[in-house]
Amino acid sequence: MSDFLQKYKIYESEFECALATRCAEMNYEPSILTESMRYSLLLGGKRIRPVLFLSTLAAYGYDYRKEMGFAIALECVHTYSLIHDDLPAMDNDDFRRGKASSHKAFGEANAILAGDALLSYAFDLMFSACGQSPRHILAAKELSCAAGAEGMIAGQSADLYYSGKNVGKEELDFIYRNKTGKLLAAPIVMAGILAGGEIEQLRAFGESLGYLFQLTDDLLDVKGDEKAMGKTLGKDEREEKLTCIKIFGLERAERMAEEYTEKCFRLLEDLKGADTLFLKELTKFILKREN
Ligand code: IPE
Ligand code: IPE
Ligand code: MG
Ligand code: MG
Ligand code: MG
Repeated sequence: MSDFLQKYKIYESEFECALATRCAEMNYEPSILTESMRYSLLLGGKRIRPVLFLSTLAAYGYDYRKEMGFAIALECVHTYSLIHDDLPAMDNDDFRRGKASSHKAFGEANAILAGDALLSYAFDLMFSACGQSPRHILAAKELSCAAGAEGMIAGQSADLYYSGKNVGKEELDFIYRNKTGKLLAAPIVMAGILAGGEIEQLRAFGESLGYLFQLTDDLLDVKGDEKAMGKTLGKDEREEKLTCIKIFGLERAERMAEEYTEKCFRLLEDLKGADTLFLKELTKFILKREN
């Protein structure tokens, strides 16, 4: 295993351990609420957002283990977004992370509520951290904005609104920047805020990384392996989603992913105060990912 993958596994396993402890403490009534929250959180997934957060803290020499609350909040917001994204009223997907999606396992109403509860839980975790310093308050604000009507929700709304419509690159950019980009940039910017890093440079890197992430998500929907991905593929075309493949075609979209990777590398060079090696490898990992 490469040095990079070994490091990734360390961040991931420390995160999993902290998450498992939090999940074990959940004891909400009725029990189906606790079960459905735990089910989606513990199904796995790549944990890219927590790993980005923890590794960016580490890049500035900050003791990342102190900030597991924010790492868990990030994954809670992301997991809630997936539960709602899969609902029949949205993408209508039966599989997620290799298992039945939340509404298939618990019914639609319980899936909606599990998502709602995870979002509120994320705010609870963030408020609990806010007493530590003004920087913690700013980091919490960053995730609050990224999650909402000027972030992921705006992107999801546009994703649905533009499905089946004859629109172009501008609308695609809006969707990418918001539905995916904001929740990919947030962990990097939050880490920069906490560690006293270079916020605007980190934001520029995070936004490009988010764009790259959705390019590869759309590409994998066409060419990925369903088992490795753990979700139904080929759905974007069937649902007439606005994707990079629809606008540019497969070859051009693949070239764009390479170009965005290069752009991310260049933006990393602007970070003077951080050790960027891991983030560079993580960018390559996103380009080459198979799930
Ligand atoms: C899927 O996110 C949804 C998008 C934003 C494209 P991930 O690919 O990070 O999903 P998990 O967390 O690994 O399951
Ligand atoms: C979802 O984008 C982004 C979210 C905010 C959850 P997609 O709808 O393309 O994600 P997948 O392909 O279902 O994971
Ligand atoms: Mg969607
Ligand atoms: Mg979807
Ligand atoms: Mg997709």
